[in-house]
Amino acid sequence: MCGIVGYTGSDPAGPVLLAGLRRLEYRGYDSAGVAILDGSRMAVRKKAGRVKALEESLGELPAIGSCGISHTRWATHGPANDRNAHPHVGGTGEGTVAVVHNGVIENHAALRQDLEAAGVVFRSQTDTEVIAHLIAVELGDGDDLYEAVQRVLPKLEGTYGLAVVSPRCPGQIVGARLGSPLVVGLGDNEHLLASDPAAIAPHTARVAYLQDDEVVRLTPTDFEIRHRERGSITPRIDRIDWSPVASELGNHAHYMQKEIHEQPETVRDACRGRLRRGEGTAAFGGLNMTPRQLRRVRRVVLVACGTSWHAALVGEYLIERLANLPVEVEYAGEFRYRNAPLDDRTLVFVLSQSGETADTLGALRESKRRGHPTLAICNVVGSTIAREADGGIYLHAGPEVGVASTKAFSAQVAVLTLLALHLGRLRQLSFTDGLAVVEALEKVPEALTRVLATELKIIEAAERLSQARSVMYLGRDLHFPVALEGALKLKEISYIHAEGYPTAEMKHGPLALIDPETPSVFVAPRGSLHSKTLSNIEEVRARMGPVIAVGTDGDEELAALADFFLPIPDVLEVVQPLLAVVPLQLLAYHVARIKGCDIDKPRNLAKSVTVE
Ligand code: F6R
Repeated sequence: MCGIVGYTGSDPAGPVLLAGLRRLEYRGYDSAGVAILDGSRMAVRKKAGRVKALEESLGELPAIGSCGISHTRWATHGPANDRNAHPHVGGTGEGTVAVVHNGVIENHAALRQDLEAAGVVFRSQTDTEVIAHLIAVELGDGDDLYEAVQRVLPKLEGTYGLAVVSPRCPGQIVGARLGSPLVVGLGDNEHLLASDPAAIAPHTARVAYLQDDEVVRLTPTDFEIRHRERGSITPRIDRIDWSPVASELGNHAHYMQKEIHEQPETVRDACRGRLRRGEGTAAFGGLNMTPRQLRRVRRVVLVACGTSWHAALVGEYLIERLANLPVEVEYAGEFRYRNAPLDDRTLVFVLSQSGETADTLGALRESKRRGHPTLAICNVVGSTIAREADGGIYLHAGPEVGVASTKAFSAQVAVLTLLALHLGRLRQLSFTDGLAVVEALEKVPEALTRVLATELKIIEAAERLSQARSVMYLGRDLHFPVALEGALKLKEISYIHAEGYPTAEMKHGPLALIDPETPSVFVAPRGSLHSKTLSNIEEVRARMGPVIAVGTDGDEELAALADFFLPIPDVLEVVQPLLAVVPLQLLAYHVARIKGCDIDKPRNLAKSVTVE
C-alpha cells in the first residue's frame, strides 16, 4: 500500500528517495512522485505506473536538491494517473507546500467544498489534496511550517501518515501520524522519514517510531517531536532489526518463490527456544500472563484478515483439539464494529504479519478499550500492533516481501500449534500426547524440505490448472482452512477464480459447478476422516471433474483417484497443515508464472493494508 520516504541531508535527495521507493515497491502501488527543494525552489515530478517511470521522467527533467519527500500511491480516491499521484501541492504559483499522505481523510468532501467556496482550485480527485491547501492557507505568508501543520491536523478526520515540505522552509520536512505508521531515521548530518523502516534501513539502523498524534520536524542536523496535546516529547531511539541480505532475491525468480522455499527455516525459527521436551510443552517469553491467568481463560477469540485469518482458523481447530477450549475466529473488519460479547475470561489474540493492517489494529484497540487483555501474534518487530498489544508472540519469519503471504502463514500456524500445546498442557493434555506434538514439530522442517523437492510434479499439475477458469479447493477439519488459503493464493496471483469449501459442503450446492473444465484440488492427507474424503472425490469424478489431490506419500488409493497426486510425508495429523499448504502455494505460484502474471506485485493488491 502507499509508501512515504523523505530525506534531508547533504546528498542529492533524488537518488536517495528513488532507492527508498524501490524498497517499498513490494507493498503494491500504482503511481509515484517526488517533491525536491533546491534552496527556496521546489520541483515536483509524479508519474502513473512504476518507480522506473518516475526515474525516467527525472532523467528527462532533473530535480536538484538535498531535501525532499516522495511517495508510492495505491489509489483510493480517484484513478491511478499522473494528476492523482502524490505529492499534492497547495498555495499560489508553483505551490507553497507539497504533501504526501498515507491513509484516508474521511471528511475530505466537506473540506473541499469549503476550500472551493473560498476560491481554491483543485488539481486532482484525491482526498489528500485538501491537506495541501489547508496547510498552504495556514502557512499564509509565514515560514513556520511546523506550526501550520499542527493547526491543520485537528481539522482532519480519518487516518494519516504525512510528510510535508515548503520552499519557504529549505532543508525542512514536517511529518505527522495518526493511524498510519511513520518512522524517523537518524543518520550523520542527515535525517530520513519513512512509512516503513525497510525504506531507510541501508542508511541507518537508529530510528524513532512516531506514535499517533505526534508531529515531527526534521532538518539535516536536528529533529523535534511534539505530541498534539502534550507538547514536546523525548523520543525513544530504537534499532531496526532488518538485514538487507534477508530481503535479497538470491537465485530465485520471485520473492514469493524464495519465501516458499524458506519455510523449513521459517518453522524452525518460529519454534526455536520454545519447545520444552522435558515437560512435553511449549513456552513463550512475551505473553505477559502467568500459568494461573491462562488457566482461568474459558474462551479464545482470534482476530485477523486474509491469510492471517486462515492461519487463525487452523488455530481454532488446533486449540479446540489440544486444549479443549472454545475458539472463535473473527474477521477484524467485522469484529471492530460488531458488539461481540466478550466476558472477562475471554482471551483475545490479533494476528498480523505486518502489524500495520488497519482493520486488525482497529480490532486490537476496540478490544483493549473494552478492557480485555489483548495479545498479538505478529511478524514485524516494532510495528504498531506489536507495540500496542498487551503481550504476544513474534513469528521471527524475517521480512516477507511477496504480496502473497506464504511463509508468514506457516510461521503463524507453527506458533498457533505451540500455543494450542501450551494451553492444552495447562489443562487436560497428557505429557505423552504433548511430547508427541513436540516431536512432530521438530520433524516438520525436514519434512518440508521433502515437500519442496516435489516441485516438478507440482509444475505438471500447474500446467493443467493454468487452463482453468475456475477451481474448487476442498478440505475437511484442519485442512478446510488450508483449502481456503490455497484458493486465496491462486486467485490473488493468477486471477483465476477459486473457491474454498469444507469438503462435506460440496454436495450442498457447489457440486453444481463441477464439469470437465472445473478442476477440484482436494487437501486429503491420511487422517480420521480420510475415507469420507475419498467418497467425496468419487462424487466429483462421477461428474467428470478433474482432481488434484494433496495426500500422504504412499496413499495408493488416493493416488489412483486423482489426475495429479501431490505427496506430503506421513506426519502427526496436527502438523499436517504446515506441510499440506506448501504444494498449494507452489501450485498457485507456477500457474501465475505460466500465465505470465506479475507474481510479486499482483494487480490491485498491497502488502500491508493500512486503510479500512
Ligand atoms: C494474502 C495476504 C493478505 C494478508 C492480509 C492481512 O496473501 O497477504 O490477505 O494476509 O492483508 O495482512 P497482515 O497479516 O499483515 O495483517
